[in-house]
Amino acid sequence: MTLDLERLRVYIGEKLSRRSAHIFGCEQTAVLLAERWGADAEKARIAALLHDITKYYSLDEQLKLVEKYSIMLNQDDLDSPQVLHAYTAAGVARYVFGLDEEIVGAIYWHTTGHANMHLLEKILYLADMLEPGRNFPDVELLRRKMMDDLDAALVDALASTVAFNLHKKVLIHPVTIEAYNDLLRSGCRKYQTEHLTHMGQA
Ligand SMILES: [Fe+2]
Ligand SMILES: [Fe+2]
Repeated sequence: MTLDLERLRVYIGEKLSRRSAHIFGCEQTAVLLAERWGADAEKARIAALLHDITKYYSLDEQLKLVEKYSIMLNQDDLDSPQVLHAYTAAGVARYVFGLDEEIVGAIYWHTTGHANMHLLEKILYLADMLEPGRNFPDVELLRRKMMDDLDAALVDALASTVAFNLHKKVLIHPVTIEAYNDLLRSGCRKYQTEHLTHMGQA
Protein backbone atom coordinates (compact mmCIF):
# COMPACT_ATOMS: atom_id res chain seq x y z
CA MET A 1 0.00 0.00 0.00
CA THR A 2 1.34 3.42 -0.90
CA LEU A 3 1.63 5.69 2.11
CA ASP A 4 -0.68 8.70 1.82
CA LEU A 5 0.42 11.17 4.49
CA GLU A 6 -2.82 13.13 4.49
CA ARG A 7 -4.85 9.95 5.00
CA LEU A 8 -2.42 8.89 7.70
CA ARG A 9 -2.91 12.21 9.49
CA VAL A 10 -6.69 11.78 9.38
CA TYR A 11 -6.32 8.21 10.73
CA ILE A 12 -4.12 9.47 13.58
CA GLY A 13 -6.60 12.24 14.39
CA GLU A 14 -9.50 9.79 14.51
CA LYS A 15 -8.07 6.51 15.81
CA LEU A 16 -5.23 7.83 17.96
CA SER A 17 -6.90 11.05 19.09
CA ARG A 18 -5.50 10.77 22.64
CA ARG A 19 -2.02 10.52 21.18
CA SER A 20 -2.34 12.72 18.11
CA ALA A 21 -0.83 15.85 19.71
CA HIS A 22 2.20 13.77 20.76
CA ILE A 23 2.57 12.23 17.29
CA PHE A 24 2.27 15.55 15.44
CA GLY A 25 4.65 17.16 17.96
CA CYS A 26 7.08 14.32 17.35
CA GLU A 27 6.78 14.93 13.59
CA GLN A 28 7.61 18.61 14.10
CA THR A 29 10.67 17.87 16.26
CA ALA A 30 11.88 15.04 14.03
CA VAL A 31 11.78 17.31 10.95
CA LEU A 32 13.56 20.07 12.89
CA LEU A 33 16.32 17.66 13.94
CA ALA A 34 16.61 16.15 10.46
CA GLU A 35 17.12 19.62 8.96
CA ARG A 36 19.62 20.52 11.68
CA TRP A 37 21.69 17.34 11.40
CA GLY A 38 21.46 16.60 7.67
CA ALA A 39 19.07 13.64 7.70
CA ASP A 40 16.25 13.13 5.19
CA ALA A 41 13.42 15.29 6.58
CA GLU A 42 10.71 13.34 4.75
CA LYS A 43 11.94 10.05 6.20
CA ALA A 44 12.00 11.66 9.66
CA ARG A 45 8.43 12.89 9.14
CA ILE A 46 7.16 9.47 8.05
CA ALA A 47 8.97 7.66 10.89
CA ALA A 48 7.48 10.09 13.42
CA LEU A 49 3.94 9.79 12.02
CA LEU A 50 4.09 5.98 12.15
CA HIS A 51 6.10 5.41 15.32
CA ASP A 52 3.13 4.93 17.68
CA ILE A 53 0.62 3.66 15.11
CA THR A 54 0.00 0.42 17.10
CA LYS A 55 0.34 2.01 20.54
CA TYR A 56 -3.20 1.24 21.64
CA TYR A 57 -3.34 -2.33 20.43
CA SER A 58 -3.93 -4.83 23.22
CA LEU A 59 -1.18 -7.26 24.21
CA ASP A 60 -3.06 -9.95 22.36
CA GLU A 61 -3.20 -7.83 19.19
CA GLN A 62 0.49 -6.94 19.55
CA LEU A 63 1.41 -10.63 19.84
CA LYS A 64 -0.66 -11.48 16.77
CA LEU A 65 1.26 -8.85 14.77
CA VAL A 66 4.54 -10.12 16.22
CA GLU A 67 3.69 -13.53 14.77
CA LYS A 68 2.37 -12.14 11.48
CA TYR A 69 5.53 -10.11 10.88
CA SER A 70 7.88 -12.84 12.22
CA ILE A 71 9.33 -10.50 14.83
CA MET A 72 11.83 -12.25 17.12
CA LEU A 73 11.17 -11.50 20.78
CA ASN A 74 13.48 -12.31 23.66
CA GLN A 75 12.73 -12.55 27.36
CA ASP A 76 13.65 -8.89 27.89
CA ASP A 77 10.98 -7.85 25.38
CA LEU A 78 8.39 -10.06 27.05
CA ASP A 79 9.36 -8.63 30.45
CA SER A 80 8.77 -5.07 29.10
CA PRO A 81 5.71 -5.46 26.87
CA GLN A 82 5.41 -1.68 26.39
CA VAL A 83 8.23 -2.03 23.83
CA LEU A 84 6.13 -4.26 21.57
CA HIS A 85 4.31 -1.36 19.91
CA ALA A 86 7.65 -0.14 18.52
CA TYR A 87 8.34 -3.52 16.91
CA THR A 88 4.82 -3.95 15.50
CA ALA A 89 4.72 -0.36 14.19
CA ALA A 90 8.03 -1.11 12.42
CA GLY A 91 6.33 -4.21 10.97
CA VAL A 92 3.47 -2.05 9.65
CA ALA A 93 6.01 0.36 8.11
CA ARG A 94 7.86 -2.49 6.40
CA TYR A 95 5.07 -4.86 5.36
CA VAL A 96 2.00 -2.64 4.91
CA PHE A 97 3.69 0.42 3.41
CA GLY A 98 6.93 -1.11 2.04
CA LEU A 99 9.09 1.60 3.62
CA ASP A 100 12.86 1.43 3.65
CA GLU A 101 14.96 -0.08 6.42
CA GLU A 102 16.20 3.29 7.67
CA ILE A 103 12.64 4.32 8.55
CA VAL A 104 11.79 0.82 9.81
CA GLY A 105 14.87 0.84 12.09
CA ALA A 106 14.04 4.26 13.52
CA ILE A 107 10.53 3.08 14.42
CA TYR A 108 11.73 -0.30 15.72
CA TRP A 109 14.23 1.24 18.18
CA HIS A 110 12.30 4.36 19.22
CA THR A 111 11.42 3.02 22.69
CA THR A 112 14.68 1.36 23.72
CA GLY A 113 17.46 2.74 21.55
CA HIS A 114 20.35 0.31 20.90
CA ALA A 115 24.11 0.31 20.38
CA ASN A 116 25.38 1.92 17.17
CA MET A 117 22.26 3.91 16.36
CA HIS A 118 22.09 5.52 12.93
CA LEU A 119 21.18 9.18 12.50
CA LEU A 120 17.45 8.71 11.86
CA GLU A 121 17.18 6.40 14.89
CA LYS A 122 18.79 9.03 17.11
CA ILE A 123 16.49 11.71 15.72
CA LEU A 124 13.30 9.75 16.33
CA TYR A 125 14.38 8.68 19.83
CA LEU A 126 15.00 12.32 20.77
CA ALA A 127 11.92 13.68 18.97
CA ASP A 128 9.74 11.18 20.84
CA MET A 129 11.13 12.36 24.17
CA LEU A 130 11.48 16.09 23.47
CA GLU A 131 8.50 17.03 21.29
CA PRO A 132 6.76 20.23 22.43
CA GLY A 133 4.11 18.40 24.51
CA ARG A 134 6.69 16.73 26.78
CA ASN A 135 7.26 18.31 30.12
CA PHE A 136 9.79 17.12 32.67
CA PRO A 137 12.66 18.73 34.59
CA ASP A 138 15.50 19.69 32.24
CA VAL A 139 13.37 19.28 29.10
CA GLU A 140 14.34 22.79 27.93
CA LEU A 141 18.00 22.05 28.58
CA LEU A 142 17.75 18.91 26.47
CA ARG A 143 15.91 20.75 23.69
CA ARG A 144 18.78 23.22 23.48
CA LYS A 145 21.34 20.43 23.62
CA MET A 146 19.70 18.44 20.79
CA MET A 147 20.39 21.39 18.44
CA ASP A 148 23.96 21.73 19.66
CA ASP A 149 25.28 18.17 20.10
CA LEU A 150 23.01 15.30 19.07
CA ASP A 151 25.01 12.53 20.78
CA ALA A 152 25.35 14.49 24.02
CA ALA A 153 21.58 15.04 24.03
CA LEU A 154 21.06 11.34 23.38
CA VAL A 155 23.32 10.35 26.28
CA ASP A 156 21.27 12.64 28.54
CA ALA A 157 17.98 11.30 27.18
CA LEU A 158 19.02 7.68 27.70
CA ALA A 159 20.33 8.50 31.19
CA SER A 160 17.03 10.18 31.98
CA THR A 161 15.09 7.08 30.84
CA VAL A 162 17.29 4.80 32.93
CA ALA A 163 17.00 7.10 35.97
CA PHE A 164 13.21 7.27 35.58
CA ASN A 165 12.96 3.47 35.48
CA LEU A 166 15.29 3.13 38.46
CA HIS A 167 13.19 5.60 40.39
CA LYS A 168 10.00 3.72 39.56
CA LYS A 169 11.75 0.38 40.17
CA VAL A 170 10.69 -1.04 36.84
CA LEU A 171 12.84 -3.17 34.55
CA ILE A 172 15.34 -1.46 32.28
CA HIS A 173 15.60 -3.04 28.85
CA PRO A 174 19.26 -4.11 28.42
CA VAL A 175 19.53 -2.60 24.94
CA THR A 176 18.92 0.83 26.49
CA ILE A 177 21.97 0.29 28.70
CA GLU A 178 23.89 -0.90 25.64
CA ALA A 179 22.91 2.27 23.76
CA TYR A 180 24.08 4.41 26.66
CA ASN A 181 27.38 2.53 27.12
CA ASP A 182 28.04 2.59 23.38
CA LEU A 183 27.71 6.36 23.20
CA LEU A 184 29.94 6.84 26.24
CA ARG A 185 32.57 4.51 24.76
CA SER A 186 32.48 6.47 21.46
CA GLY A 187 32.99 9.66 23.46
CA CYS A 188 35.89 8.08 25.34
CA ARG A 189 37.55 6.98 22.11
CA LYS A 190 37.19 10.48 20.70
CA TYR A 191 38.63 11.94 23.85
CA GLN A 192 41.52 9.45 23.90
CA THR A 193 42.37 10.20 20.25
CA GLU A 194 42.33 13.94 20.90
CA HIS A 195 44.44 13.42 24.01
CA LEU A 196 47.00 11.23 22.22
CA THR A 197 47.19 13.71 19.32
CA HIS A 198 47.82 16.45 21.81
CA MET A 199 50.56 14.37 23.40
CA GLY A 200 52.14 13.77 19.99
CA GLN A 201 51.45 10.02 20.13
CA ALA A 202 48.86 9.64 17.38
FE1 LIG B 1 6.18 4.80 21.34
FE1 LIG C 1 5.84 8.24 21.00
